[in-house]
Amino acid sequence: ALERTLSIIKPDAVAKNVIGQIYSRFEAAGLKIVAAKMVHLSRREAETFYAVHRERPFFKDLVDFMVSGPVMVQVLEGENAIAKNRELMGATDPKKAAPGTIRADFADSIDANAVHGSDGPDTAAAEIAFFFPGMAIYSR
Ligand code: CMP
Repeated sequence: ALERTLSIIKPDAVAKNVIGQIYSRFEAAGLKIVAAKMVHLSRREAETFYAVHRERPFFKDLVDFMVSGPVMVQVLEGENAIAKNRELMGATDPKKAAPGTIRADFADSIDANAVHGSDGPDTAAAEIAFFFPGMAIYSR
């Protein structure tokens, strides 16, 4: 199905100056960037975005990292965009990410893991609405 998913290029990858290299991977895989913005999240915004992880032991480190510098946020559109983006990213822990994936090539640790991508249709809709509240979704 034609889907949209939310992608974040995290502070580590923005600092490494690889936004373009990561965008090229999305494009080469047939994912179209249909919305994008660079933002430096406040602590409150990062905590709200990652609220589902609030009780996890890594929550504070995750929020500290996500507010450490600007991030690049985009909506990717394409056939099976959610799963396709997750394939391109590779496993959450870069040590476990398959060769050639974004995290294998650009990430340093499970916190500084270069990219975030929505994990399913419901989170994709919620995450897109969080960053691009005016964006109409007509995919179903
Ligand atoms: P992300 O896809 O952005 O979603 C939550 C983030 O928490 C995840 O990527 C990791 O960067 C970070 N994180 C840190 N430790 C863990 C862990 N043990 N399991 C899952 N995510 C973790």
